Amino acid sequence: MTDSATELTTLQQQAKIRHEIEDAITAMFAPEDEGLQSALRVARQAGLPQIQISPIQGKLLQLLATLCNAHKILEIGALAGYSGIWLARALPSQGRLITLEVNPEHANVVRNSFAGAGVGDRTEVRVGRALDLLPQLVNEAPFELVFIDADKPPYPQYLDWALRLTRPGSVIVADNCIRGGKAFRTPDDEGTAGIVEYNRRVVNDPRLVSLALPLDDDYTDGFTIAVVKQ
Ligand code: DHB
Ligand code: MG
Repeated sequence: MTDSATELTTLQQQAKIRHEIEDAITAMFAPEDEGLQSALRVARQAGLPQIQISPIQGKLLQLLATLCNAHKILEIGALAGYSGIWLARALPSQGRLITLEVNPEHANVVRNSFAGAGVGDRTEVRVGRALDLLPQLVNEAPFELVFIDADKPPYPQYLDWALRLTRPGSVIVADNCIRGGKAFRTPDDEGTAGIVEYNRRVVNDPRLVSLALPLDDDYTDGFTIAVVKQ
């Protein structure tokens, strides 16, 4: 075998090992029940994009919500309701998840999935542009956890609102903050520009301690997690 063929085989083997590890961790620590699987099925049938977080990311959101004793969680961008189910299940019985969704049809899909997953009583899907809805949440703050997973260009504005709507000890998590490394280079499109600026701001904000964390099995995307300092 040539050297390059050997190298390719080695890379394929490494990729296979990473997939196996991710599958094993998922099966052990983050198995999906029927509520989560059904949310994905229904979203696929409704034509929603298949860009939800992984089960490991869902479990990490639960872990963070538990760590900061979250009673009120805000999600910007509901999509399939998949991350919302993970988050809502980390709430105590009197807790509340508010999720913002721009598309009214998607919002209905999400409401049904929340009900099917047994979290209909502690969740609320608000329909509209997030930047229009966020000012209305000032009276309902503070939230102990904010999860940002919506359109990418306004990520820096979502961060400004997250900072207004949280308190010391709160956690602000944003999805898609690695983008195959594009998140740390000069941006070549509007979406990447939003993410680059988001990372730059959280890391330089003296109120926050933050880290971008690759979380998928090929290290190409993940969360930036920021904690509001006490
Ligand atoms: C895209 C958006 C997401 O939130 C995601 O997790 C993956 C991809 C996108 O807009 O392409
Ligand atoms: Mg995302």
